[in-house]
Amino acid sequence: MKIVNVVGARPNFMKIAPLMRAYCSEPGIQPLLVHTGQHYDHAMSRLFFEELSIPRPDIDLEVGSGSHAAQTAEVMKRFEPVCLQHRPDLVLVVGDVNSTIACALVAAKLGVRVAHVEAGLRSFDRGMPEEINRILTDAISDLLFVSEPSGEKNLLAEGTDPRRIHLVGNVMIDTLLANLDKARALGTTGQLGLAPKGFALLTLHRPSNVDDRGAFTRLWGAIERIAERMPVVFPCHPRTRARLAEFGLADSIERAGRVRLLEPLGYLEFLCLMSDAGVVLTDSGGIQEETTILRVPCLTMRQNTERPITCELGTNVLVGSDPEAIVAGFTRVAGGDGPAGGPCPLWDGRAAERIVRVLASGA
Ligand code: UD1
Repeated sequence: MKIVNVVGARPNFMKIAPLMRAYCSEPGIQPLLVHTGQHYDHAMSRLFFEELSIPRPDIDLEVGSGSHAAQTAEVMKRFEPVCLQHRPDLVLVVGDVNSTIACALVAAKLGVRVAHVEAGLRSFDRGMPEEINRILTDAISDLLFVSEPSGEKNLLAEGTDPRRIHLVGNVMIDTLLANLDKARALGTTGQLGLAPKGFALLTLHRPSNVDDRGAFTRLWGAIERIAERMPVVFPCHPRTRARLAEFGLADSIERAGRVRLLEPLGYLEFLCLMSDAGVVLTDSGGIQEETTILRVPCLTMRQNTERPITCELGTNVLVGSDPEAIVAGFTRVAGGDGPAGGPCPLWDGRAAERIVRVLASGA
């Protein structure tokens, strides 16, 4: 069985790593790896391949950045000949980025079966580009690998044939558990002069938070207030860095001195910092799951989450984008009043094995 596996953007890499490893124990599966090139900076792409020992991509489409339409279309144009040449039995896509829907759509129209890993997640907010990608990818996938019970519930509510749905757990957590010791051994926290539990770790990149001057400026006000009480470390996505400069917010960061602006970090360094953080402030999807497993308090600066299990069983609290709510959330968590969090079913480091078993069974 020839399986073409697709990655494109940073959050895809930690999801594909355990699958590429698990394929090795299935001689009947011949995996090929395609990188669309949606993310291309060394720190956003190649570094993750090195750290996570992901094999070098067999094919690199080198699409680069663009508007949503241009980027999605370019991936489709370049991926179609790959499918025609290699004639895979299955195309496997992960997550919810533009590369995910682009390749799923190409495969489905060529009559190639599609498997979607991390299926069924819904924020019910169609203002998020990822929500559109999730809904469409699930609608045209033959196999839906689900990470948490809400995913199964959402798919069934949409009328999905239950035989297509497989609740397998979370491949990103496979990667976290496999790399935690190695990450902690790096000692990144100490190297940055930070005390364990004595700092807040910040990530921000959602268009709704950083692309609008007013929204970003308000949010930044909350971060500065938090930074007066606890040092904030901020590895900065290129999109966010561009907006900081455009809105003139970077100067105030320098002045405040307590916000440490860093280049995007590698997986292991970031995991080390996350495991040591007193609190994580984020608008990412995956970080809500990672902090849940690490039992580190997480304040998510969004109105909704497509990963509700992180709030129900984990350490995640939705604080939205209102500065008062963000600061109040921080005060609660810093005072030890955040949810303690507990284990999530099937987030045990073996999700990729389960997926490969389903694939090998010819389901
Ligand atoms: C994408 C995903 C988002 C994911 C995020 C993680 C979609 C719709 N969004 O958003 O779900 O959470 O990745 O990072 O697919 N850029 C660089 N270097 C790079 C990549 C991007 O400088 O290697 C800059 C470019 O200016 C680009 C911008 O970042 O225009 C945005 O990149 P893009 O891939 O379009 O979306 P992300 O915001 O990264």
